[in-house]
Amino acid sequence: MATKKRQRQANIKITQESYIKERDIEYVISAKEYEIGLGKIMLGDCTTLLLSRIVGTVDLTFLDPPFNQSKEYAEHDDSMEPAEYWNWMKTIAQKVYDLTTEGGAIYFMQREKNTEHVLQCLRESGWVFQNLIVWKKKTSAVPGNHRYGKQYQVIAFATKGKTPRVFNRLRINPPLPQGYKYERENGMFVTDIWDDIRELTSGYFAGEEPLRDKEGNRLHKQQSPIELLTRIILSSSMPGDKALDPFAGTGTTAVVANQLGRTSVSIELDLKNVNAIKKRCEEQKPSDDIGKFYAGYRYTSNLEEIWGQNKEKQFLERSLLKKQISLL
Ligand SMILES: C[S@@+](CC[C@H](N)C(=O)[O-])C[C@H]1O[C@@H](n2cnc3c(N)ncnc32)[C@H](O)[C@@H]1O
Repeated sequence: MATKKRQRQANIKITQESYIKERDIEYVISAKEYEIGLGKIMLGDCTTLLLSRIVGTVDLTFLDPPFNQSKEYAEHDDSMEPAEYWNWMKTIAQKVYDLTTEGGAIYFMQREKNTEHVLQCLRESGWVFQNLIVWKKKTSAVPGNHRYGKQYQVIAFATKGKTPRVFNRLRINPPLPQGYKYERENGMFVTDIWDDIRELTSGYFAGEEPLRDKEGNRLHKQQSPIELLTRIILSSSMPGDKALDPFAGTGTTAVVANQLGRTSVSIELDLKNVNAIKKRCEEQKPSDDIGKFYAGYRYTSNLEEIWGQNKEKQFLERSLLKKQISLL
């Protein structure tokens, strides 16, 4: 295992030095690729696979890399030297920038303590900063002895060029804060604080969404919620656009993109995860159905157009009807 990790590190160093070398070409040509609904998944290292002729152009990227916090990954060393790690992140951000269409967007998720690095990384690779989204967790804060407990992750939203080509102003209708007297008439615009999306947890509150192995253990501890990707994809793309996820994990981006009529390219290093993504997309579970979020965005003026399918509208009509029936 140690040898494999050293080999991976060597590959990363090589690709940081040069954009494409003979060895990279060989590696890319041997890469495996599979169809997953409207998208495709590539098995391999995104450092090498992010070459334009392989991936093509993209409109939106969700970047959720390993956070370099010594987590166990089968194929990746999560304990790199910080400078080496951030150098690598910059290489990835730069390659994604090159592939992105004018006005396209990137959402780069990280731990809050790394905000400074994230912003620097995006700026130095050409991206124009738009928002620092605070994704507030619903579980209790990670306590600190000498500082406040930590309860959020950051998602930096940036674009290629000053103005996004697409930015759909989503409206939601969260519960009124205490002391507010009147109900909102048509919800409110989504702000840069996202405190309404629950992270996927282990234990009591885990629910059906996290993928599990035969023993019931979680297949991937960093699986992102479909609700998070629904918001990102709806905000920054239109049906027919292409979403990229260079660190696909369990394929959440592809699962959501498929349902919203976007194409996608997912890259993942670990074969076990690639197989899980294929299965997840081929046999979609009810817990992966994003139709349940449609009603929450009902005040968005162009929702029908950006959702890309009428199935979800029917879902809303069905649930409204059910509600009416239960009130009778
Ligand atoms: C934080 S997880 C992403 C989780 C994902 N957002 C989801 O919803 O499941 C990061 C993933 O990147 C993968 N990975 C690590 N190094 C990689 C590389 N060089 N190229 C492609 N994938 C890589 C890991 O195997 C891991 O599954």
